[in-house]
Amino acid sequence: MVKKELTNRKIFDAYNANKLIDNQEVDIQGWVKTNRNNGQVGFIEFNDGTFFKNIQLVYQNESYSKIRYGSTIEVKGNIKLTPNNKQPFEITAKEIILLNDCAEDYPLQKKRHSFEFLREIAHLRPRANTFYAAFRVRNTLAYAIHKFFQERNFIYVHTPLITANDAEGAGQVFKVVADMKHPDDFFKANASLTVSGQLHVEAFALAFQDVYTFGPAFRAEESFTSRHASEFWMIEPEMAFCDLEDDMNCMESFLKYIIKYVIDNCPEEMKFFDSMIEKGLLDKLHHVINSEFKKMTYTEAIEILKKAKENGKKFEYNDIKWGMDLQSEHERYLTEEIVKGPLFLIDYPKEIKAFYMKLNKDNKTVAACDLLVPYVGELIGGSQREEDYDKLLAKMKEVGNDKGLEWYLDLRKYGGCIHSGFGLGFDRLLMYITGLSNIRDVQPYPRTPGSLKY
Ligand code: 4AD
Ligand code: MG
Repeated sequence: MVKKELTNRKIFDAYNANKLIDNQEVDIQGWVKTNRNNGQVGFIEFNDGTFFKNIQLVYQNESYSKIRYGSTIEVKGNIKLTPNNKQPFEITAKEIILLNDCAEDYPLQKKRHSFEFLREIAHLRPRANTFYAAFRVRNTLAYAIHKFFQERNFIYVHTPLITANDAEGAGQVFKVVADMKHPDDFFKANASLTVSGQLHVEAFALAFQDVYTFGPAFRAEESFTSRHASEFWMIEPEMAFCDLEDDMNCMESFLKYIIKYVIDNCPEEMKFFDSMIEKGLLDKLHHVINSEFKKMTYTEAIEILKKAKENGKKFEYNDIKWGMDLQSEHERYLTEEIVKGPLFLIDYPKEIKAFYMKLNKDNKTVAACDLLVPYVGELIGGSQREEDYDKLLAKMKEVGNDKGLEWYLDLRKYGGCIHSGFGLGFDRLLMYITGLSNIRDVQPYPRTPGSLKY
């Protein structure tokens, strides 16, 4: 193993060095988080952006006490080991150079701000603790996702963001028009932003066997909830020679792997979320990693909901019957109150699911699955794909989504096979892992109906 060395600039290295040397010289640049002075000595909580925790600077020079919260500074000094204190070391500052004095009207004052207020200053909130932690975890989670698939020889495919197809056939697309005289002439096609890379990535699964795409998706849904965004990121693996059962196995091991990776690699951040955002978060996640996910058919779920209703449970949408689309209150009841953990719901009525899903032998349901989790609801949507040319064509015609998708049908004609995949909502997973209850607080610059700042 390469021995980590303390460079002269990074807090990360300092915290992670195997052996810190007392009195070692440092020269680091970063930002002031607090500055207080008790008359004899002053203390600056300092962070250079490389680690969740701050470092304490201790200074003697009285004039440094004027350095304002939020300012940018360069510190020259020495490491001082403090093995008996909470922080294992501090920095004795010999010289502090003010690189940029933070203006007095800094909106991010040192007090508790509401998340609503912080959303209005999305350009400054990455410095606030919660967001500083959330965006670090976001980074690590993205890395873990690539790591999982790359270790298993999946090929990463960049599916297009501008497309002529509606992959979900739900009509929730944003149109793309050029800012010119005859905007529709640009592509000479009905251009929109992608709602999912699935159809495009399926084509690659039939060449490379196991593939995935991981990128943004856009949906013009007028859903004013804490779990819907108009722009979000999605991970979509697709596997040839894979049925729904194997697909679910992949979802489960994938989810366990990436959650564990984040717990192992963001310990400070996760401890913060556990104590400040969701009490018991780490226990919850450890439980997810160590237990087998439950499975239930849609039909069984309807029976359970009917029983609950009989026993006095009132849903807002209370007309429970087979064939209905489950509302999030139903999904939440099942995952939060019935199984108290992740739940695979499978075999949905064909009428309420997308056109590409494989029809089951009963001719009524499709080989689809949603993974539901407490408080977030639907985290993953997946299915086995209809590989039968005639059945697929009939379904596409039935729902009026056959124009422009001849190429997709080709995949059933030339070297088709059983194949399956799923879509995991990256931002929703981040909500689940951090305990943050609004999707707007895990996205760097959230886009939702009626809101497009930045
Ligand atoms: O269930 P969905 O619509 O499935 C698909 O897009 C399939 N093409 C996936 C596949 O099989 N390759 O979306 C997948 C996931 C959802 O379970 C949810 O987590 C997330 O994407 N999602 C959203 N996240 C945030 N905001 C929205 N508006 C979302 N819509 C879907
Ligand atoms: Mg879905």
